[in-house]
Amino acid sequence: MHRIRLNEKISPNVGKMIVDAPDVARYRKPGQFIMLRIDECGERIPLTIADVDTALGTITLYYQIVGKTTENMARLKAGGHLKDVAGPLGHPTEIIKFGTAVCVGGGIGVAPIYPIAAALHRAGNKVVGVIGARTKNLLILEKEMGEVSERLIVCTDDGSHGRKAFVTEALGEIMAAEKVDIVVAIGPVPMMRAVSELTRPSGIKTLVSLNSVMVDGTGMCGGCRVTVNGEKRFTCVDGPEFDGHQVNFEELVMRLNTYRDEEAVSMREHRCRLGEVDHEG
Ligand SMILES: Cc1cc2nc3c(=O)[nH]c(=O)nc-3n(C[C@H](O)[C@H](O)[C@H](O)COP(=O)(O)OP(=O)(O)OC[C@H]3O[C@@H](n4cnc5c(N)ncnc54)[C@H](O)[C@@H]3O)c2cc1C
Ligand code: FES
Repeated sequence: MHRIRLNEKISPNVGKMIVDAPDVARYRKPGQFIMLRIDECGERIPLTIADVDTALGTITLYYQIVGKTTENMARLKAGGHLKDVAGPLGHPTEIIKFGTAVCVGGGIGVAPIYPIAAALHRAGNKVVGVIGARTKNLLILEKEMGEVSERLIVCTDDGSHGRKAFVTEALGEIMAAEKVDIVVAIGPVPMMRAVSELTRPSGIKTLVSLNSVMVDGTGMCGGCRVTVNGEKRFTCVDGPEFDGHQVNFEELVMRLNTYRDEEAVSMREHRCRLGEVDHEG
């Protein structure tokens, strides 16, 4: 059991949770994730380890409320517990001195991009941050990204904060103005795809972190299968980061939509009733 130290909403659809997981906190590197289960009835879901406090033995998670498990997560209170936190999982991001690194985060993708931007900054890179959201109150971690970026460009689709632009527009301008050595992009699949297409002609190294549906997180179930450079790979053990120029995004979108109907039913109808069992009678 993992004690919850904090659970609060930081935007209308994103929660921040700090939870005790000392072993994960000790061994985690940027780019890695955990699989968590809320309770015995719960499914396992992957979430990026956005931050750690090794002295306290805690990890910080940011979760977008999109379905059954993340809805239930939002209802948990500090002092409560998560049943399982397994990790750290996945390959860490390669952190070396590349030169100029542009870190592009869209929506909840800012949560996983933040520890990577921070690590690239610590490694002596010039980090240019580009973060975006549909509207102002959906933007997260702006202050934190600002602290690890030499320059931070904020974009909103509706212009309610920062520039009225897509993150790709800002990235295009940076690429036109200066030499970029690496781009790391995390966010919705169409965004990662658009970023990869933008950097392809100039051959700028581009990393994306894939959000395939995961079941066991161990490479055994095949649920997170993706095609990269024409080969079958598993996001949980071979990723989650891959070369954006080699990812088959079309297939990824198709696989992400496979269980959409079932997820909607699950959200509506399946409610954990374990706590309602009458143990007295
Ligand atoms: C390596 C990795 C890191 C991730 N990090 C974060 C993060 O830091 N913050 C965050 O908000 N989200 C993150 N995600 C996505 C997150 O796992 C899903 O949003 C979550 O599983 C949704 O569960 P649900 O029951 O609330 O929604 P559901 O109703 O089950 O599903 C809603 C949508 O979430 C996605 N999803 C559902 N189940 C899974 C699953 N088991 N694995 C992956 N995606 C799924 C699907 O696209 C689905 O359409 C990450 C995914 C991966 C693969
Ligand atoms: S989640 Fe089962 S193989 Fe990756």
